[in-house]
Amino acid sequence: MWEYTKKVRDFFLHPKNVGEIENPDAVGEVGSITCGDALKLTLKIDKETGKIADAKFQTFGCASAIASSSALTELIKGKTLEEAMKLSNKDIADFLGGLPEEKMHCSVMGREALEAAIAGYRGETHVPESGERVVCKCFDVTEEKLRRVIIENHLTTVEEVTNYTKAGGGCGACIPDIEAVLRDIWSLKPVAEMPREPKKLTNLQKIALIQDVIEKEIRPQLQADGGDIELIDIAGDKVIVALRAMCVSCPMGGVTLKGIEEKLRELVSEDLVVEEQ
Ligand code: FES
Repeated sequence: MWEYTKKVRDFFLHPKNVGEIENPDAVGEVGSITCGDALKLTLKIDKETGKIADAKFQTFGCASAIASSSALTELIKGKTLEEAMKLSNKDIADFLGGLPEEKMHCSVMGREALEAAIAGYRGETHVPESGERVVCKCFDVTEEKLRRVIIENHLTTVEEVTNYTKAGGGCGACIPDIEAVLRDIWSLKPVAEMPREPKKLTNLQKIALIQDVIEKEIRPQLQADGGDIELIDIAGDKVIVALRAMCVSCPMGGVTLKGIEEKLRELVSEDLVVEEQ
């Protein structure tokens, strides 16, 4: 059980500024329900003063995500955009009297939603540049985000990085890359030891990860060739799929299934077996 401060509990049980502003001036959406947390922040901005007149949030997440999002809205209301942009994830956590270390990623998500909303309002592109390196495929964490969070929060171990960004918290395949980023930033050698064995996924994590890999990695590739795929069921390590569209009549269907299996083994678990319905 996590140790929550009284303020975290208050902001979780009685969150302020829940909802969505009608006709907002700025919207910031981050996270993904597949990864477990998602946050939508809407802002009303006073054009004359440049101050945030109102802020509301909707979130799918744990107690810390709700408390962090609510705290964020309280902290930014009345601030100019420049002042709001100075807010760090640590400020959000500090406002709440601290968050469990394992939940610091909730404060990072709040900071990112704010950044996305303001960038959108200013007409800047917030989405990662195409070609930007994704270090953790399970949680779609780019190297740029890792570097920023590591430096801002003085993180030195992979475990801390996972707590703040979730990177490394799934299949574990990205752990060597996270270590390399840490070494590069702090010139440490070697970074504090982390277990090399990939973490054992819970059933829920495994199912979410399989769905995520199919949606983000496999389906776009098949669709590019006129095919498609439907996930039918997951039973233990057996992933049952149906090939659709052009894939149905493709004589290379067996090869396609093998490719799907290899991808899922690479990104989720090497025990997975893919079968066609
Ligand atoms: S790729 Fe980072 S945890 Fe799987």
